[in-house]
Amino acid sequence: MRDAAHDEYLHFRFEHLDPNQKPNTLRNWLGSLVEAKKRGARPEVLNLIVPGNIGSGKTAALCALGNEASEQGLVVRFVKHATYLTWRRPDSAPHNLTAHQVRERFVTCDLLVLDELCGEMDMTATEFVRKETIDLIDSRLAAGRATAFSTNLRSRRTPEHPGLGVVDILGERLLSRLEAAAHLVKIQGPDRRKPAKQLDW
Ligand SMILES: Nc1ncnc2c1ncn2[C@@H]1O[C@H](COP(=O)(O)OP(=O)(O)O)[C@@H](O)[C@H]1O
Ligand SMILES: [Mg+2]
Repeated sequence: MRDAAHDEYLHFRFEHLDPNQKPNTLRNWLGSLVEAKKRGARPEVLNLIVPGNIGSGKTAALCALGNEASEQGLVVRFVKHATYLTWRRPDSAPHNLTAHQVRERFVTCDLLVLDELCGEMDMTATEFVRKETIDLIDSRLAAGRATAFSTNLRSRRTPEHPGLGVVDILGERLLSRLEAAAHLVKIQGPDRRKPAKQLDW
């Protein structure tokens, strides 16, 4: 989390979350992951998808999950999707990690928090972006490793929401596989970061 410049989220625990951040659902899912690891088994529900508007508390909720998971003995990694893609480029990762070591880190951990899935992307996403994203998610699914995703996007485009959907990056096949093994935890709420008073200029 420090490498990903998210130190300020290190203190979050379930007890700090509001009811709309659904701490009980997160706690139950974490329980199933810890249980699966003890048994050396694949978790029953591999993925957690957390959609919601900007500032609604998605990152805080998933960091609470990750922090608690780490305290319970899971190997946990946190990274923003866009940051992962940057780190996968040559000579771009922290601690002089090679691109190969970066992939290894994020594919093999017990729980990955992949924040802002498909954030900062549009329909012109490059082949590199699509390939790297599909490789990461597909490899974790194949290995039976849990991933929690947050996103401001919809899954698919609709007439009411014609903007980019996650499906436009992942493709329908992978998105369907991901959804088939996922809990959906929608977080709705006002943007907590909005200043109470906006400057008039
Ligand atoms: N339960 C909470 N109690 C106090 N502050 C919170 C809580 N949840 C989120 N925040 C704060 O509100 C702001 C927005 O939350 P964040 O999780 O970053 O939203 P999102 O990821 O949905 O954009 C952050 O500054 C975060 O620290
Ligand atoms: Mg966030």
